[in-house]
Amino acid sequence: MQNFDRRKFLKTLSISTITMGLVHGTSFLNGATAEEVDWFQNINRVNDPPINLTPKEKGHAPFIKIPDIIKNGEPFVLDIQIGENVHPMTANHYIQWIEVYAGIELISRIEFSPLCPQAKVTVPMVVKESSTLRVLTRCNLHGIWETTRKIVI
Ligand SMILES: [Fe+2]
Repeated sequence: MQNFDRRKFLKTLSISTITMGLVHGTSFLNGATAEEVDWFQNINRVNDPPINLTPKEKGHAPFIKIPDIIKNGEPFVLDIQIGENVHPMTANHYIQWIEVYAGIELISRIEFSPLCPQAKVTVPMVVKESSTLRVLTRCNLHGIWETTRKIVI
C-alpha cells in the first residue's frame, strides 16, 4: 500500500481549491470593471494594524484579535471579524470562507452560506513557535482578502 503523504495531500488540495475558486470566480465576472476583476486575480492585503483604509478595505479586511501574550503550547482564541463593521451576509453578497494559517500550516477553514447571520468566528489556537498568523477570506463579489500578524512566543 502506498504511503499517504498528508502534507502533499493538503498542499494539492489547497492549490486545487484556490484554482477552482479562481475559475468559479471568473465565471460570473462578465461585465465586471477592471478593478473588480483585479480583486479576484490577487490577494488583497492591508496593513495590520489597519490604518488609512479605503471603504472597500474597511469592508473586507479580516480584523483579528489575539491575546497580547501567547505562550508556547498554551491554547488561546483568535477572534476574527470580516470588515470593520461586519461584512453583509445576503443572498447576493456574502463571505464564502475564512482560512487561518500559522506560517504555511492550515489551522482552520470555515465555510459560510448566505444564511449565516454574521461573518465572525472564534478559532481555538495553539502555537509551538513564533510564526506569522495569516487570515484569508473570500467575498463572492470582491475577492480574496488577507491580514497577517506576527506571533512571538
Ligand atoms: Fe464584499
